[in-house]
Amino acid sequence: MRVLGLESSCDETAAAVLDGPRRVLSSVVSSQVKMHAPYGGVVPELAARHHLEAVDPVVRRALELAGCGLDDIDGIAVTKGPGLIGCLLVCVAAARALGLARGLPVVGVNHLAGHIASAWLEAPDVPYPALALVVSGGHSALWRVDGPRRFTQLAKTRDDAAGEAFDKLAKLLGLPYPGGPVVDRLAARGNPHAVPFGAVKTKGAHDFSFSGYKTAARLHMEAAGIAPLARPDDEPPQPMLDLIASFRHAVVRELLRRTRQLIEEDRPRSLIVAGGVAANSLLRAEARRLADEAGLAFSIPPLKYCGDNAAMIALAGLPALQAGENDLDGLDASASLPLGGAEAARTTLRHL
Ligand code: KG4
Ligand code: ZN
Repeated sequence: MRVLGLESSCDETAAAVLDGPRRVLSSVVSSQVKMHAPYGGVVPELAARHHLEAVDPVVRRALELAGCGLDDIDGIAVTKGPGLIGCLLVCVAAARALGLARGLPVVGVNHLAGHIASAWLEAPDVPYPALALVVSGGHSALWRVDGPRRFTQLAKTRDDAAGEAFDKLAKLLGLPYPGGPVVDRLAARGNPHAVPFGAVKTKGAHDFSFSGYKTAARLHMEAAGIAPLARPDDEPPQPMLDLIASFRHAVVRELLRRTRQLIEEDRPRSLIVAGGVAANSLLRAEARRLADEAGLAFSIPPLKYCGDNAAMIALAGLPALQAGENDLDGLDASASLPLGGAEAARTTLRHL
């Protein structure tokens, strides 16, 4: 089965063609990072407008690279949420239009299910149940995965996501946006034990919290007399490199502390790490080590599938398309879309 995947939940317009669960025929990502950089974050209106301009050429290019036309596509999978509503709507509308015009089934996919599925792209399946650490600019959560479409949230962040924490640190220091890749690169030149960042206590036993680290970093800058860089490309002084290395070390330590606790309690058979922050070199190495120590199968996507892309959306939508499902009639975008039955039930209970 050939699936066209579409993704526009944040600042990447992406299309991909997947041939069955294993072969990515094409994966095209048009990033808006440069456009948002001067603002230090994604500007939703600009992002939505760019998606509108990019969606047609990106889909065309994905088909061209895959060496096929719309006639060769058997179904469409599109991100329906969570994300920025004006952005999500662009690809949802494109998917509906293509589905209607071509008589193709269209399924809506949860963006987080997409990130989890990215661990299986061009890689062997890991055994269930799996524990999935999903860490991106908008999310930091641990999921129990009992099957391709069976997710239960076990932990989440109480405030900032891990990627957001890296982005905010970079902003404090005057480094370029997005901060994650820059922080990762510079951290290699600093002492990770120079600045103490304590373990975080949260209400939910396994939840994350990163906003305190941002405050701790700011207080350390004041106390140690570290001024933000005048220009983003300036050479950072050694005390700043030490702060960056300590911050990265602390965030990764916290992510894996919670992961280790849940491995011990939930006894999964494999560990998955996915999302934009899965590109972090320290997290990649330490997570692999944790899985090895615990005797778990380990899966982490190659760098090209860590950030937002449409190949992961196509793969996440494949089981529904194979089961003959078609959401075309009622398909709509949803800014805050829960993933999994257990999370939906919990959200309802909390709001009673
Ligand atoms: O998954 P993604 O592309 O978009 C969201 O769904 O949020 O993740 C983007 C996030 C940004 O916060 C970015 O700073 C972070 O991933 N990131 C990294 C690295 N590369 C990207 N964080 C830490 N280390 C990296 N190497
Ligand atoms: Zn994402």
